Amino acid sequence: MSKFDCAIYISKATMPITDILIKNILKKSRMHNLKRGISGYLYYEDGYFLQYIESDKPHTINELISVLEKDQRHQIINCFKTSKTGNKLFLDWSMGEIDKNQLINLNLEQQIMNYMKWLKSLDQSIDVNSSKIWSMVDLLSSHKEILQFI
Ligand SMILES: Cc1cc2nc3c(=O)[nH]c(=O)nc-3n(C[C@H](O)[C@H](O)[C@H](O)COP(=O)(O)O)c2cc1C
Repeated sequence: MSKFDCAIYISKATMPITDILIKNILKKSRMHNLKRGISGYLYYEDGYFLQYIESDKPHTINELISVLEKDQRHQIINCFKTSKTGNKLFLDWSMGEIDKNQLINLNLEQQIMNYMKWLKSLDQSIDVNSSKIWSMVDLLSSHKEILQFI
């Protein structure tokens, strides 16, 4: 059975975020991620990013998180990491952009974001309550066909 590492985090933007900036982040991310076998998605809303990343290459996720922690454009405020067995959830998304319009019926990213912010406000340790986060990530991947890779 194959295994992969994954992480989901929310971060607070430290500067005004424009569509052009997001497109640039996605462009660079896709180039890097294709080479490193990373897939996932990025969602932005009201000054916060939510990003899910996954890889079956050892150390890759931790290495990317170290890079992301140094990026001055945002500050990570809550991050969950785990390893899973099975196939990657967003295999063909080198870094998908999830757009708010796609989520009108789904509203799931917002729920994950709010839940992670709420956990942070309670000062919960990283792994407590994470099963709910991972079940929401699974749920989102089951709606991949509706979302489409843009
Ligand atoms: C919210 C956010 C998400 C990012 N996601 C990724 C990513 O998935 N992959 C990646 O390589 N870089 C990502 N980056 C960019 C990295 O932090 C970093 O700027 C970039 O990898 C550096 O590339 P360079 O050394 O070629 O300039 C992201 C940056 C931000 C602000």
